[in-house]
Parts: sequence; structure tokens; C-alpha cells
Amino acid sequence: MRTLIRNAQCTLPDGTRQTDVLIENSSILDVAASTATQADEVIDAAGLTLLPGVIDDQVHFRDPGLTHKEDLHTGSLACAKGGVTTFLEMPNTNPATISRAALIDKLKLAAGKCVVNYGFYMGATPDNIGELQQQDRTPGIKIFIGSSTGNLLVDEQAALERIFAETTLPICAHCEDEATVRANSEQLGGGHSYADHSRIRDHRAAVIATQRAVDLALRHAHRFHVLHVSTADELPILTDHGGLLTAEACPHHLLFNIEDYDKLGSLVQMNPSIKTAVDNAALWRALTDGRIQVIATDHAPHTLEEKQRPYPQSPSGLPAVENSLALMLNAVHQDRCTLEQVVRWMCDAPARVWDIVNKGRIAPGYDADLVLVDLRRRHTIRNRDQVTKCGWSPWDGVALTGLPVRTWVMGQTVFVDGKLDSAIRGQEAQFDHARGGYWATECRS
Ligand code: DOR
Repeated sequence: MRTLIRNAQCTLPDGTRQTDVLIENSSILDVAASTATQADEVIDAAGLTLLPGVIDDQVHFRDPGLTHKEDLHTGSLACAKGGVTTFLEMPNTNPATISRAALIDKLKLAAGKCVVNYGFYMGATPDNIGELQQQDRTPGIKIFIGSSTGNLLVDEQAALERIFAETTLPICAHCEDEATVRANSEQLGGGHSYADHSRIRDHRAAVIATQRAVDLALRHAHRFHVLHVSTADELPILTDHGGLLTAEACPHHLLFNIEDYDKLGSLVQMNPSIKTAVDNAALWRALTDGRIQVIATDHAPHTLEEKQRPYPQSPSGLPAVENSLALMLNAVHQDRCTLEQVVRWMCDAPARVWDIVNKGRIAPGYDADLVLVDLRRRHTIRNRDQVTKCGWSPWDGVALTGLPVRTWVMGQTVFVDGKLDSAIRGQEAQFDHARGGYWATECRS
């Protein structure tokens, strides 16, 4: 099967230009102005822009165990609608992904119900080092250095030292310092308002844990990715990377701050907490100057009923995978960044950080994971339109310019004309860790 996408503006590794893209089965065969090419299907994409599919390296899809909030099918449909063609999912499911057997079970589950491509992290516990040493078929190891949803936590120094010393897979971590969070919580009597969440999980908690994790990574010369950086204060820690460190920011930490609790309450209660407008601006600058390389969502669905509980019973987390690309296209429309930067942060960099084979670029030989976007299309995010099982978005009512209109996963159209094809199946992403990560591969400036 050959599909020819004609006349789109294509974001290619060497710049954006109008060209044709020829897909053969699941791969990109050619990128060239090739009007005479024979194809089974020809799509005229004039006026639209073709991007590599987004790779979201941090989502929580709740399957197995918490499937009243989301499952691998609904989470993957939300991806397809949002232009996300590959997701990497976190281990805090029930059971948690802390053994080879649990990883294989999740991969099997995903093969049966995911409409986009998938990969699953191995979760660290204080005593599962043997499991962490054996793993292939995974992007890497996730450590909750601070606790969040679920009960995965490793905050004892000896256990952390062992994980960094005795494993080779890349490591990423949720960095909020447990002791600081506990002390702040006690001081505030457990917290009484949603806004207290940012006082309990404060700047200090983030900085202490990020510094601690980065020290471990540098001492053990271990590749390390700092998940969801939320403060300006962590940024100086990220500059001395020595080729080992990468970092990411999430749309909610770029776009929301503590002023939003008044209107949105627990809908913006997240771990790490949202911070201040000063932090928003600093995170944007860090993306622009390359101290942060990746944008990922930390898509963390909970039902509205759960979210409406009083603080601190309200769970932390918000859904975003369905809207992250549109939010960033809107940022392009507002001149906050360029389209090429968005592609770099959301498509190219995650593929390099996690050594994902043949993804993240529009180039011959790469997988045909693609998203066609209309940069001029105006639309409003509405709870009623959300396909995530939790059925809401913290951006409900927000008007944006720029929308994904068609998504291909391994050459198959999974989303077009506002409709999802739930029969499509994605594939297990392949990780080639011998590549050595983001800094070991050429990266475009
Ligand atoms: O707010 C959060 N919720 N942060 C996390 O890191 C985990 C997530 C969840 O799984 O609910």
C-alpha cells in the first residue's frame, strides 16, 4: 500500500518546506517533489502542515487496575486525536510495572487495544534491582523520589545509590523531596485549600530532590532525565549536564500558575505543583535556550467526582495528551515559539532521549507516524468533546488557533475528519539503548 501526501508544508530535519511525502506500508519511502509517483491513495494537503507524530514520554493510562479513570484504549484514542503517535507510560498502575512479568503483561494488553504506538517504563522499588537490571523492551527506569499517585517511592539514599550504580537503563525521576513535603504539610495542618498544594509541594521540595537526583546521576555517570521541571530554581542544576542529563517541561507548568487556583481549584492540582508566573517564563526560556529539551504532558486522569473532593483528599493530576499539540500550535500562533521548536521538543528530542528507533522525524526509512495540522484552524477545547475516559480538560472553554486534523500511525490513518478509527493497532516502540541518548546523537540547533 502506497500513500502520497502532496503539497503539505513539511517540517523536515533541515527545515520546513512544501514537498510530497510517500508512505509505503508502515514507513516513509521518499520525501521529494514527486508528482509522477504511483500511489494507491493520494491526499492533497495543500494549505496544511505535516509534522512527525508527537512522542509523549510521560503519560499515566491507569491500565491495569484503575480503568475507571482511563485505559490503554481510551488513552490511546486521546493520543490519536491529539496527534500523539507514540506514548511512554508510567509504572504506577495496579499492579505496578515493577517486574519483567508485569511489563510483559502490559505490553500484551497494549497490543490488543492501543491505536497508537506504546512503550512502558519499569518502576523502581527499594528492592527490585534484579528486575531493573534485566529489562529490555522498555525506555528506562522510573523512580518516584517523591511520592505521588500510587505507592511507588524510593527516597532512601542507599537504595537510590544502588539503582544508579547497578543498572544501565536510562533513568528518569519524579523529583519532589518527601521530607520537605511532609514538613510543609505538617506546618499547614495538612492543607485546607487547593492553593495549599503549591505551599506544601513548594519550590524547595522540587529543588532539593532534583539536586539530589542529578548528583546521583553525575557521580554514577548514569543517563538521567528530569521529569516535569516546575521551577526556575531547578534550572541552574540542569546546565552542567556533561552529556548525561536531559529534562522536560509540561504544558500545565508552562501555561498555569498559582493564580489559576481561584478559577480552577483542584483541576490544576498536580505533582509537582504549579508554581508562579516567574516560573512559567523561566521554563519557556529554558526550552528556548536548550536547558530543557522535551515537552511531555504527564497526562494523569482522575474522574471529576474524585477531583471535586476537598483538599487534600482530591487526587493530583490532570489530563492533557489530547490537547498538548494544539496548545503548542497555539503558542506558535502567539509567537511564543516556532513550529520547528515544537517539533524538536515534542517529536525529535523524546525519540533521542529514549533511543526510540525510526521515530521523531520525517525522513526516508522512518516510521510513517505523522500528523497533519491546520495552523489557522480556530477551535475551543470543550469537556464534552474529550475522548479521554475522565471526560474533562483543565483547558475547557479555552480558544486556540492550530489543530491536528489527521493522524497516521505506522502508515494507517487513525484520525481524520474528526473521526477516530478504533480498530487500528499501534506497535511496540523499539528502544536501542546502545545509541547513548540525546547528547550522543547529532541534534539540530
Ligand atoms: O499529579 C500527578 N499525578 N503527578 C504524578 O507524577 C503522578 C500523577 C498520577 O499518576 O496521578
